Formats: sequence, C-alpha cells, structure tokens
Amino acid sequence: MNPALTPKRACESYVEMTQLVLPSHTNPLGTAFGGQIMAWIDICAGIAAQRHARQITVTASMDDLHFRSPIHAGEVVILKAQVNRAFHTSMEIGVRVEAENPLTGERRHCSSAYLTFVAIDEQGQRVAIPPLVPGNEEEQRRYEEADKRRQFRLERRNLKRNVVTRRVE
Ligand SMILES: CC(C)(COP(=O)(O)OP(=O)(O)OC[C@H]1O[C@@H](n2cnc3c(N)ncnc32)[C@H](O)[C@@H]1OP(=O)(O)O)[C@@H](O)C(=O)NCCC(=O)NCCS
Repeated sequence: MNPALTPKRACESYVEMTQLVLPSHTNPLGTAFGGQIMAWIDICAGIAAQRHARQITVTASMDDLHFRSPIHAGEVVILKAQVNRAFHTSMEIGVRVEAENPLTGERRHCSSAYLTFVAIDEQGQRVAIPPLVPGNEEEQRRYEEADKRRQFRLERRNLKRNVVTRRVE
C-alpha cells in the first residue's frame, strides 16, 4: 500500500484555535461579523484537513451555518475541528465554535459547521487521501452520519447544477 494512504486516526487531525474578538472584527452593535467567524471556521477546518491528508487542500463547500448566539468584542472564540470521515479525495470536517467570557470563564456554544475539503496536487489534480479510522463511540457516530450528509450535499449540488443549466439554456 502507498504509505501516504495508510489509515489515520480521527484524533490525529484535531485542531483547537483561539481568537480574541477585537473591535475590527465587529459590526456597529459590537458583535462579531458572521463573515469573520466563517473565515476562522474555514481556517480551522483547513488545518484539520491538512493534518489528515498532508496534501494541499481546498474548501469545496460549507454546509448551512447557523449563528445561535452573538459574540461580543472582548470575548474569546474557541474553534475545535476534526475530520469526521475521509472519502476518496474529499473529507468532511466538523467545527464547533464556542465563546468564552474572559472574566468568568463561562463558555457557550455559538455555532457548528460541516465543511468538505478536497486534496489536490501542485497541478490542481485531485489526489487520494488516507482513510480515517474513528476511535471512540462519538467519532464512530460522526463517521456514520458524515456519509449521510455527503449523499445529501451531493444531491443538493446536482440539483443546483440543473437549475443553473436550465437558466442558461
Ligand atoms: C473542489 C474541487 C477540487 C472539486 O473538483 P470537481 O472536479 O468539481 O469535483 P468532482 O465532482 O470530481 O468531485 C471530487 C470530490 O469532491 C467532492 N465534492 C465536489 N464538490 C463538492 C461539494 N460542493 N461539496 C462536497 N463535496 C464535493 C466529491 O464528492 C468528490 O469526492 P471524492 O473524491 O471523495 O469521492 C473543485 O471544484 C475546485 O477546485 N473548486 C474550487 C476550490 C476553491 O478554490 N476553494 C476556495 C474557496 S473559493
């Protein structure tokens, strides 16, 4: 077997990233821009994808993103990401976003996102990535659910392609 395709444990891709919300990250209400949180989610997921694949990886998609609670200037944002499942050249990464009150240490869940990254080589050609081995019950659940989500998002992608094609015709 190609050594680059040796199966890897899910936990090997784990990333935790911490950011302080500065005034430059906020809107006139003093809460973080959604786009800023999305950028941090993308970076955190991208690092997890590269830890798994050890290849160049690009964002293929981000599933629906819901912001459950605003995050204020001066709060600390903690992002946790891990690869849920590797397919052939693509992988699903789950990211959880929490906000921490720096004075009390209290944390709340603000957002969760699923992203798909694809591994490519320097010519931009897709490359195979190692299979992922879930380690515990939680990782096993995420692994199984990732397959269902993949089917759903590929169906949706094809549906959108059809809509665009019909408009162009
Ligand atoms: C992502 C990209 C490499 C996919 O290439 P493609 O030729 O369109 O994709 P294919 O239909 O052949 O599918 C390739 C793989 O990507 C997955 N994939 C493609 N589009 C996807 C999407 N929108 N969501 C989830 N997975 C997707 C497929 O399931 C397949 O996975 P597998 O190899 O594990 O089975 C290509 O579309 C690309 O380069 N996009 C731009 C990426 C980029 O620049 N991102 C930064 C933000 S702009």
